Amino acid sequence: MSDLHTIQVTVNGKTYERKVEPRLLLVDFLRHELLLSGTHVGCEHGVCGACTVLFDGAAVRSCIMFAVQANGHEIMTVEGLAKNPSELHPLQQAFHEAHGLQCGFCTPGFLMTLVPFLKENPHPTEEEIREALSGNLCRCTGYQHIVDAVKLAAEKQ
Ligand code: FES
Ligand code: FES
Repeated sequence: MSDLHTIQVTVNGKTYERKVEPRLLLVDFLRHELLLSGTHVGCEHGVCGACTVLFDGAAVRSCIMFAVQANGHEIMTVEGLAKNPSELHPLQQAFHEAHGLQCGFCTPGFLMTLVPFLKENPHPTEEEIREALSGNLCRCTGYQHIVDAVKLAAEKQ
């Protein structure tokens, strides 16, 4: 077994200290160490976007980062979006209302990609929305409802 490194990471506002192997991926740290399984693993090659989380506010792919790289940083996962179990984040609510998901496997990655996108660009055009979505793969929706959900979220904010 390789040497363990002690890391301190703030995830969804709570700080965790853990000893991890240097080879441990950030996505596996989140899912298996912290039991935050909302961050999904699709391709494990940085292609599909299912593992997207916020790293100091920016969308990153947690399957191509090591947990040790998150030492001293702030992560937000999909579990951190809703204020409480009965009040969805406005983007989650828009996905629900516009039928932006079917199986939902890709959905956490879409949400975590779109939160900083809408913050930077609160009133995007359809072309800008499609460009923003282009790094996230979905097998079920045909994307139209996802685009509709982003438009709805933008209208409501
Ligand atoms: S699982 Fe990370 S990009 Fe596909
Ligand atoms: S809703 Fe099934 S993969 Fe996107």
